[in-house]
Amino acid sequence: MRIATRRAAGLDEGGWTDELRSEVEEYFDKLASDWHTRTSPGRTAIVADALDRGLSAMNPELGLAVEVGSGTGAYSHLLSGYFARVMAVDLSSEMLKRAPTGPAYRVLADGARLPLRDGAASAIALINAFLFPAEVARVLSARGVLLWVNSSGEQTPIHLSVDELVARLGGDWTGMSSRAGEGLWCAIRRNER
Ligand SMILES: C[S@@+](CC[C@H](N)C(=O)[O-])C[C@H]1O[C@@H](n2cnc3c(N)ncnc32)[C@H](O)[C@@H]1O
Repeated sequence: MRIATRRAAGLDEGGWTDELRSEVEEYFDKLASDWHTRTSPGRTAIVADALDRGLSAMNPELGLAVEVGSGTGAYSHLLSGYFARVMAVDLSSEMLKRAPTGPAYRVLADGARLPLRDGAASAIALINAFLFPAEVARVLSARGVLLWVNSSGEQTPIHLSVDELVARLGGDWTGMSSRAGEGLWCAIRRNER
């Protein structure tokens, strides 16, 4: 997962190819039936903290939030408590099958090619999920907020440091980062010109 994380983000050579996408899809399809065992009150509290403190610090528009790599949807309800609409995107049909039908709209898609127009999202949430920098930059609105959560901090299989995250996004970003329990998170947005 570390290699795939870095290739998706453009940090390592190879990039996000059709072959890698198929491997990742198959990998998570196989894990889907047990994925609920990876949720816990502690992990939920990390996401709740990121939303509570991170979002309030960023003061975003509260229109559409896009949760990329939403898995079985354990955190979608938390996002829907803040945003008017939540679109939860995942590559794995087996993960999506196990997610609740609401309150988020569930979409089978690749986070590298989101079915959204430019600037459509008030926020993008990546909770233990791959960063596709160009797609995040394209889909976020001018004041849009990127929420990045690693539930097991640096031990998270899909982990990037905040410095790596910002470097790959390019341009000028501002925000806050914090630790919560075993996790770490950051909430950032582009600096206004
Ligand atoms: C580590 S799991 C995290 C799931 C959930 N966010 C959580 O924290 O429990 C990563 C999720 O991202 C999905 N995923 C992997 N590559 C993706 C891609 N290119 N586009 C959308 N989802 C992807 C996987 O299918 C999986 O459900």
